[in-house]
Amino acid sequence: MSIEAIPLQERIERYSFEERICHWLTGLSYLYCMATGLAFYSPYLFWIATALGGGPTSRFWHPFVGLAFVAAAMWMHHIWRRDMTLTDYDRKWFDKSKDYVENRDDLVPPQWRFNGGQKVFYWAMFYGAFLLLLSGLVMWFPEYVPFQLRWVRPIVIIVHEGAALITIGAFIIHIYMGVFMVPGSVTAMVTGFVSRDWAWTHHRLWYRQVMGRRTTRK
Ligand code: HEM
Repeated sequence: MSIEAIPLQERIERYSFEERICHWLTGLSYLYCMATGLAFYSPYLFWIATALGGGPTSRFWHPFVGLAFVAAAMWMHHIWRRDMTLTDYDRKWFDKSKDYVENRDDLVPPQWRFNGGQKVFYWAMFYGAFLLLLSGLVMWFPEYVPFQLRWVRPIVIIVHEGAALITIGAFIIHIYMGVFMVPGSVTAMVTGFVSRDWAWTHHRLWYRQVMGRRTTRK
């Protein structure tokens, strides 16, 4: 059932307009950097750069869009840092993560707004963004690296590629979970709303908190 078919009072706001804009800015800028970065990584993938306007165009925009990605990720941190703090509830969730992955939802402890897996993904992207920025700046402006420190360059390349591979792995899992494994999540990130059933099933403590707030407001 589409979210529009659910009566207004049965819907719950999961993401504000600001959260959604920030999320899609982060997502699209990351996607561009990932695609062009993979094209630079292997000659077998260079066709991606060709499809995106050619090698020089991709090489020109990759660091600028990378800056946009880091800025969007910092904005995201500003909005979500409190929701993403790991707590004892997450430790309980990690203990049951096998049941979560194997869809035995009744065995998974109730969760607040985000579960442990979502938080780990968030922190992987947050620290990954930092490593990509620092190593990327050194590769962007090699002329500022003093001659005595030239040994830093191969290390920086490994850090950039390592951070890219880790964030790409996390990103693939994120897409799989959001788009295929938990129906209703994409609708949440596009419209901002979820059904009560969705909230109850996936984030029961958060659901109770939101419903409690509604009752007290009435
Ligand atoms: C462009 C491809 C992307 C798609 C299709 C996508 C999809 C989604 C969806 C459907 C949700 C809602 C999940 C829920 O409420 O349970 C979500 C949440 C979220 N997204 Fe994305 N996303 C993308 C890129 C990114 C990137 C690049 C980042 C981080 C740098 C990111 C960070 C987050 C975070 C932190 C959340 C909240 C926690 C979570 O659900 O993991 N997303 N995304």
